[in-house]
Amino acid sequence: MTVWGAAAVDEAVAGGAGVVHVGTRDVVTPLARERARELGVEIVVGSPAPPSAAARGARPAAPAQVRPLPDPAAVSARLGSAPRPVRPPSGALYRRGAPTGRSSRRSSAPPGRGAPGGRVGRVVVVGAGNVGMIAAMRLADADAFDEVVLVDIDEGRAAGIALDLTHTAALSGFTTRVRGVGTVEEAGRADYVVLTAGRPRTPGMSRSDLIATNAEIVGDVASRLARTSPDAVLVVVTNPLDEMTQHAWVSSGFPAQRVVGMAGVLDTARFQALASLAGAGPAEVVGAWALGSHGEEMVVPLSQATADGRPILERVGPADLDATVDRTRGSGAEVVGLLRSGSAFMAPGTSAARMVLAMVADRGEVMPAAVLADGSYGIRDVYVGLPARLGRGGVQGIVELDLRPAELAALREAAERIRERLGALAATPT
Ligand code: LAC
Repeated sequence: MTVWGAAAVDEAVAGGAGVVHVGTRDVVTPLARERARELGVEIVVGSPAPPSAAARGARPAAPAQVRPLPDPAAVSARLGSAPRPVRPPSGALYRRGAPTGRSSRRSSAPPGRGAPGGRVGRVVVVGAGNVGMIAAMRLADADAFDEVVLVDIDEGRAAGIALDLTHTAALSGFTTRVRGVGTVEEAGRADYVVLTAGRPRTPGMSRSDLIATNAEIVGDVASRLARTSPDAVLVVVTNPLDEMTQHAWVSSGFPAQRVVGMAGVLDTARFQALASLAGAGPAEVVGAWALGSHGEEMVVPLSQATADGRPILERVGPADLDATVDRTRGSGAEVVGLLRSGSAFMAPGTSAARMVLAMVADRGEVMPAAVLADGSYGIRDVYVGLPARLGRGGVQGIVELDLRPAELAALREAAERIRERLGALAATPT
């Protein structure tokens, strides 16, 4: 199945098509229909059409129209923080409405070993806490990099975990080198960075309670990374996730396609696991998107939730499904409460590694992630969880799902709440 958005229609028309052929199982979004009407082209269902570049897994061709990304300096000025020098963002890889589908996400084998694009140089994991440790382990196990480097202010911990992980090379069958160092400068130039540095939550603490403390850490690390690794893609894991991702984007001065936040993958995995416990079948057959914020305003649009490709409501009743969404939203706190010290790390570390490996594999996989909204879903200029196509260079585009009005409203509400918290952060004296 392919989801046709407005940009896919643009692309087909730019390619000379007077008629856009879509498959019988494809989904055509309302925006795509509107775009087709504007361009005076017909959308024909069921006719044989050659698969699109995206459906073949290739890097999509440049779209006919690319909406320029918001300028970090302009956004930061609006937020009231001092603008930093930025390189002009290139919109070339960033577009909305690229054709995709959960089927493409589901059908792709986990990336990693034998990544089609070949081995990648170095991934740096900043923060050798539990999340960083699990992310480093997953990344080393995938054997897709020359080197995985753990960085922590506690250099001994970083070096100790790195050595311990190195000892597993024969057991796990990887040749990736693993190092542990005390600063990002010592780590060297990275291709990908997983940024986990920051304080974790303690029982009773919300993610937002962490905002000022972690903003200082994330801002410092992101601006130093911009100097040592000017071409890296940053995957932000530090909480509060959406706000810290935007803060890392502003502090790094990187184009938005190279700064992405992790939590949608984690929240979706939690929904899949919990829906499985509620009777949906194995977690793997559950298709869903956790969007919005990584917190109270998490949106799991049930119109898009499936089990074995069928509406999930055929397997789990509405009350149990609502309870599953609530439990997903509270999963981080549930784990914090059980651990009593520290927060979840297995699923968060695995999710961050999974995103990096999807980028390295460069198959255009679509994952829920915190990205800079570009006008899709009626949201712009703020980082929020949306379905994003990922490739070697980071975010290739935002994919528009055909959400119900209430789901869309909840998503917009999430974006507004994140925007408010960013405004409060900018107003906090440092
Ligand atoms: C959680 C933290 C990582 O959701 O936000 O467990």
